[in-house]
Amino acid sequence: VALSAQASDNTSSASSSASGSLAFDPDAYTELTTTVTDTDGDEHDVTYHFWKAITYVADPVDEKYQSLTVSVPVVIDGTAVDASDAPILFANSVGGYMPSSVADATGVGSGGMSGGAPGGAPTGDASASAAPNANGNGNTNADGGATSSNQLLALAAGYVVVEPGARGRTLTDSAGEYYGVAPAAIVDLKAAVRYVRANKGRIPGNTDRIVSAGTSAGGALSALLGASGDSPLYDTYLEELGAADASDAIFATGAWCPITDLEHADGSYEWNWGANKLSTGSQVDQTVSKALQSQFAEYQASLKVKGLGRFGTLTARNYDEYLVRQYLEPSATTYLADLSDSDRETYLAANTFITWQNGRATFSWADFLTHVGARKKTTPAFDAFDLSAGENNLFGKGTTEARHFTAYSLRNDTTGVTGKRLDSDLPEVLRLMNPMYFLVDKPNPARTKHWWIRLGTNDSDTSHTVSANLAAAAHTLGDDVNHLYYWDQGHGANTDPGDFITWIAKVTG
Ligand code: DHB
Repeated sequence: VALSAQASDNTSSASSSASGSLAFDPDAYTELTTTVTDTDGDEHDVTYHFWKAITYVADPVDEKYQSLTVSVPVVIDGTAVDASDAPILFANSVGGYMPSSVADATGVGSGGMSGGAPGGAPTGDASASAAPNANGNGNTNADGGATSSNQLLALAAGYVVVEPGARGRTLTDSAGEYYGVAPAAIVDLKAAVRYVRANKGRIPGNTDRIVSAGTSAGGALSALLGASGDSPLYDTYLEELGAADASDAIFATGAWCPITDLEHADGSYEWNWGANKLSTGSQVDQTVSKALQSQFAEYQASLKVKGLGRFGTLTARNYDEYLVRQYLEPSATTYLADLSDSDRETYLAANTFITWQNGRATFSWADFLTHVGARKKTTPAFDAFDLSAGENNLFGKGTTEARHFTAYSLRNDTTGVTGKRLDSDLPEVLRLMNPMYFLVDKPNPARTKHWWIRLGTNDSDTSHTVSANLAAAAHTLGDDVNHLYYWDQGHGANTDPGDFITWIAKVTG
């Protein structure tokens, strides 16, 4: 790749440079203003420079998706700020593994998904739509609106905000080929990181302090970006796109409700939600559910990851106790402690499964499951027997819209798929999409060492073990892990965005 040829100035480092179409133009911005309401309700006037839709690869497949925006604060509440060495928030807006574009973005936090009904909706479950994106993109979030989004708060804190688009699973070309299926989205995000790195010194911000953020499928990709930094496994894909010749490792990862570890997610889901009924009141096939649960037990035993808080090795037998002690009870405790005395009394009267004593909430796993109620997805939740899940499409290939990606669902296929083995490319594609591979199977020394992970306790888009295993795997390697669950919150919640911004300052400082 001829991208390391002479740069138009000498501000870039020797090891990474960009030229020609991949050189960031420091002067090509428009000046914008916005008012950001912080999490205390205080307003901040921010003047910032906005670079719109810059194509981040030399040989794009689709510029609509393979482009990014850059937002750099210059004046905050009347005081000039210099963001040239500030952390860089790298916030994707992927939902449902769908395409996400910033081509029409008009300012910070205004990009997003490009239509269609996202989400891994299995058989007619319209409720499994996109995350109410915790990262903004103009949608409201669980904290009450885009004014609290990560991007806006980051800007008001003086950080640089980079928002990349990425290809997604539904895109087809004129020949009917699916060009946004796995691993396209992660390759694009890596290419975007490389673009930022290659423009060190031209693009404002500290390229050694890139902090990724994303929600749901975007959270999965954010975690994967952090876990897989500089892995050579993506090189051929990146070369094909003419990605900049630079590191794609990132410093820290923020992941909200990551829908990840997909090839193990069906078993994990049944271990967690197997006894819960669907919103229709019907029970899922318990034979299937039980078979998948035993797959989870085997998988969990193979991971050999340690729980946080000095909990031992996590197994299918102790995981319920772990979730309750490490995450769920502390989550309920925080929630209840923040209520007024009378609101707490009301809540406890309506939720008698909780014991409130000495300022601490305790309860059983079984009661917690009853409290959450309906499970969102049928079984199997991710590799549907009839290929109807979004994830079946994610693992499509060529002109094939959807494929099975687990042996179990292939065996139980109801669509007439012939062949008894998974397609031979799939093991590699699954690795390229799974952060656990880079944390457990082949620990990646260039991974991010700082992890911010969040999940709503009511979120049944995937198993609670998925984010807990991600956290435990990073913790087992000695990484700095900040993981908690938001009490009574659903899919896509981000109720402590201000704390995330503070955390960035702490870990990058
Ligand atoms: C998302 C939700 C899902 O239930 C899923 O399977 C994949 C992605 C999402 O909201 O991004």
